[in-house]
Amino acid sequence: MLKFQYKYMNQNKKRILTGDTPSGRLHIGHYVGTLENRVKLQHEYDTFILLANVHAFANDYRKSEEINKNVYEVYLDNLAVGIDPEVSTIYLESGIPETLELYSYFMTMVTHARAIRNPSVKDEINYKKLDPSMGFICYPILQAADILGFNADLVPVGEDQLPVIEQTREIARDFNKAYGETFVIPSAKVGRVARLIGTDGKLKMSKSGENAILLSDDEETLKKKIHACYTDPSRIHATDPGKVEENPIFEYHKAFNPNKDEVTDLENRYRLGKVGDKEVKEKLFVAMNNFLVPIREKRKFYEDRPEIAKEILIESTKRARKVVIEIVEKVREQMNINKLIK
Ligand code: TRP
Repeated sequence: MLKFQYKYMNQNKKRILTGDTPSGRLHIGHYVGTLENRVKLQHEYDTFILLANVHAFANDYRKSEEINKNVYEVYLDNLAVGIDPEVSTIYLESGIPETLELYSYFMTMVTHARAIRNPSVKDEINYKKLDPSMGFICYPILQAADILGFNADLVPVGEDQLPVIEQTREIARDFNKAYGETFVIPSAKVGRVARLIGTDGKLKMSKSGENAILLSDDEETLKKKIHACYTDPSRIHATDPGKVEENPIFEYHKAFNPNKDEVTDLENRYRLGKVGDKEVKEKLFVAMNNFLVPIREKRKFYEDRPEIAKEILIESTKRARKVVIEIVEKVREQMNINKLIK
């Protein structure tokens, strides 16, 4: 008997397509960057969320086992923050092989020069000092196939992904120009905090993670991470005036502490040298932990029911595939690609 039932069939809503490359568990930066938008918009839009396992192979094709593990973690992370599988469709990228057909058509439309000029690709190669595979250089083209395969209207993403969405829009326009109106031109949507600073004070929290607070961290781990968190290095005593800007502890307070008066009070006292790091960190721990408690609970619900989690993923992937099959069929017709065998 099917325990899981999707609520909305045949809805005439606009579509969201978004997702994550499963290269590690998701963190609080993902939450403010994109997850929060997905959760908020899932009732307004027909929402599809992909677990981008094919993308993950572009980082290292030998890591199948690790990728499968991470796919499951990222899946749980999405459910944990409030993606409702009866409302949104969360699916496995490789479960829709038609996406890869679309990818191969799009590959012919993008010049080599354009592919290597994409700032998202370029920055990541430099930052991680990669010797990139072809799959890595072309991941924005695969991403375009993910998005256009659903004719998505809106793509909630982190700020670092904006150039990828720009390239998707270009592909859609070029295709429409060559073969007639086929694709919707999608828009990107960035969350309320575009880029969350790492616990080590580095510009960005990273998915592979030493400087990240994970959505799945337990209380003890959270406490340790906040305790060890980088603050203002020029401040030696609690009576020294401290810098609030670019201080991770205050960035997190601003993003996650709902008590705005408390945050303003701490900021003012910090600037004047009237509060120690200890108090600021303890208050952050309380706020962060309150935020994470219901997320941990929901995660545990699905962790304890792996057969339900699996059934949802199978059914949702089937439903998602139907949408893509229809659109790819239209693409083949527009291109008249099967003319000689029809
Ligand atoms: N490249 C995205 C990331 O690393 C993940 C992704 C793959 C994606 N396909 C997508 C995001 C389609 C939005 C839409 O975060």
